[in-house]
Amino acid sequence: MIEVSDVRKSFGKLEVLKGINLTVKKGEVLSMIGGSGSGKSTMLMCINGLEPIQSGRIVVDGIDVHAKSTDLNHLRKRIGIVFQQWNAFPHLTVLENVMLAPRKVLKKNRQEAEQIAVRHLKHVGLGEKLKVFPSRLSGGQQQRMAIARALAMSPDYMLFDEVTSALDPQLVGEVLDTMRMLSKEGMTMIVVTHEMRFAREVSDRVAYFHQGKIHEIGSPEQIFGSPNQPETANFLKSVHGA
Ligand SMILES: Nc1ncnc2c1ncn2[C@@H]1O[C@H](COP(=O)(O)OP(=O)(O)OP(=O)(O)O)[C@@H](O)[C@H]1O
Ligand SMILES: [Mg+2]
Repeated sequence: MIEVSDVRKSFGKLEVLKGINLTVKKGEVLSMIGGSGSGKSTMLMCINGLEPIQSGRIVVDGIDVHAKSTDLNHLRKRIGIVFQQWNAFPHLTVLENVMLAPRKVLKKNRQEAEQIAVRHLKHVGLGEKLKVFPSRLSGGQQQRMAIARALAMSPDYMLFDEVTSALDPQLVGEVLDTMRMLSKEGMTMIVVTHEMRFAREVSDRVAYFHQGKIHEIGSPEQIFGSPNQPETANFLKSVHGA
């Protein structure tokens, strides 16, 4: 379980998270939506300890992410994160790219790491691309490789930050299908997305970020069907596909 309590985060004088409270239970899919600069990416970075916070607490399965004693490397093994773009090592094959973290971080031997990587690459539909170099993959395939790479660490949580926004429209579907599959398998996920139809269909809850706060949170039916806050309604009107 991820528990975020009264988290405040600033970059210099600019406060970008202004008291965030949030709980994500095991197996839950939470979507974060909201305008540019509202703090969604920053929230994800704070959850896996990539960014410090000024006050409040983030606890993941009982571990205080920002406590001095917390082993962040250990924590990050349990929280996979996939970004809009991930630069794979161009001189390594798809398989070798996905083997890297199990080898280096989990200290698996070559054979074990290969088994893990093959399993996850097949799972995301890249079983035919093991020996190919990343530059030969489509954008959608590259994103699925990034997902396989994160899954190869056997994370308990997956965070996704606009993983489809850099893709041509015809490639978006295959990546969303992969995420949909993970959610059906019970993966706990936080998904920052501009894909409102996906958020509506896959999420258990949707959080609308506005000016550094969760302005409104609820079921997809409630948020998309009858938002309580005028700002939520305005945002949804402004985005395509809501
Ligand atoms: N490393 C940084 N240094 C300084 N300011 C930052 C940094 N990262 C983010 N910010 C600022 O924090 C605010 C929140 O940014 P954030 O990236 O979290 O927004 P977002 O909701 O993810 O937006 P988008 O939808 O455009 O991705 C913005 O004003 C941004 O300029
Ligand atoms: Mg962002």
